[in-house]
Amino acid sequence: MNSVASHHQRVLSGMRTTGELHLGHYHGVLKNWVELQHEYECFFFAADWHALTTHYEDPGVMEKSVWNMIIDWLAAGVNPGSATIFIQSRVPEHAELHLLLSMMTPLGWLERVPTYKDQQEKLKEKDLATYGFLGYPLLQSADILIYKAGLVPVGEDQVAHVELTREVARRFNHLYGKEPGFEERVDAALKKIGRKNSKLYNELRKRYQEQGDAEALKTGQALLESQHNISLGDRERLFGHLEGGGKIILPEPQAMLTKSSKVPGLDGQKMSKSYHNVISLREAPELVEKKLKTMPTDPARVRRTDPGTPEKCPVWEFHLLYSAEDVREWVQDGCQTAGIGCVECKQPVIDAVLKEQQPIRERAAVFEEDMKLVKNIVAEGCEKARDVARATLDDVRQHMGLAYR
Ligand code: TRP
Ligand code: SF4
Repeated sequence: MNSVASHHQRVLSGMRTTGELHLGHYHGVLKNWVELQHEYECFFFAADWHALTTHYEDPGVMEKSVWNMIIDWLAAGVNPGSATIFIQSRVPEHAELHLLLSMMTPLGWLERVPTYKDQQEKLKEKDLATYGFLGYPLLQSADILIYKAGLVPVGEDQVAHVELTREVARRFNHLYGKEPGFEERVDAALKKIGRKNSKLYNELRKRYQEQGDAEALKTGQALLESQHNISLGDRERLFGHLEGGGKIILPEPQAMLTKSSKVPGLDGQKMSKSYHNVISLREAPELVEKKLKTMPTDPARVRRTDPGTPEKCPVWEFHLLYSAEDVREWVQDGCQTAGIGCVECKQPVIDAVLKEQQPIRERAAVFEEDMKLVKNIVAEGCEKARDVARATLDDVRQHMGLAYR
């Protein structure tokens, strides 16, 4: 575990700025962010440096992608009053932490991250045998650790990166968390939580360390969580001591798998730009209609009179995402009996997508008209993010022996 429960409340996630967002991003990520922002302290950022690791040959598209993506977020309902929205490259502290972490990260850890080889295979047309691309997941670790984020909402493909982050944090704490006088400071901190609590703490610690009792660890963490008269530093010492390590400087984050419905593409595969099967978030209504009208259906339905099987048809996937039970029954029945035609069947989907996009498109238009507002939101977010990032970095510098002036 080794995660500081008090930071569990902070959520951090980023999105690469490599092109237009589509309905897959909306259902898979953005809707989730919009929900999370009401429950947690959220930091969401445009990962422009991560975009450059694969798109370093076209700097020209960067700026437009960044602003478009942020407008998409705002239009989808990410609220700057609830979440901090910022741009990675405007918080250069991420880069310094990346550099410092690189000192103690074994090369093998990065070479073994599955996305490293996978992406090189997949993006054959690009030369990804670069230093920056190998460091991609470590930069991501810096993104996460610099905010001491507890939860990182990501898709399946990113779990390995969060896993790496946990290992890096563990190694960092192990190397640098042994401050001089640690034991004495722990004793002093225990005095502050009172006799009864420290006795309980020690019992729980023993149970966890000697018997591996995970419940005891949890109870111990909850106990520390409820102590209000100790400093953050003392709390982190006690968290570390509870688990048998030193002070926790960088808490280990947890991946938060997006419980998203699978978003189908126009061809039945997952919606993804590289499959050319997307409907973009702000796609023009005529195009939405055209794309859906021309999308393939169950190949068994050659003629209108041929019955079909919805499960073999990508349109059905859209009904699963967009249609209520009665419409789905109408599809099932009409398709299998050849009672309805495919054009007819697609209409409720077309209507639903257009209806979903309408308010998004309208809100986006307002922001597009007022770029000053968008830039102010981001400037404010960057400031807020930097304050948090600076504090972590000061701490990291100190523990790595770089605090001299
Ligand atoms: N690598 C992530 C992706 O491709 C984007 C990302 C960069 C990220 N830094 C992050 C996600 C930090 C979560 C936390 O989707
Ligand atoms: Fe697909 Fe609907 Fe046509 Fe059946 S009727 S094949 S579900 S589009």
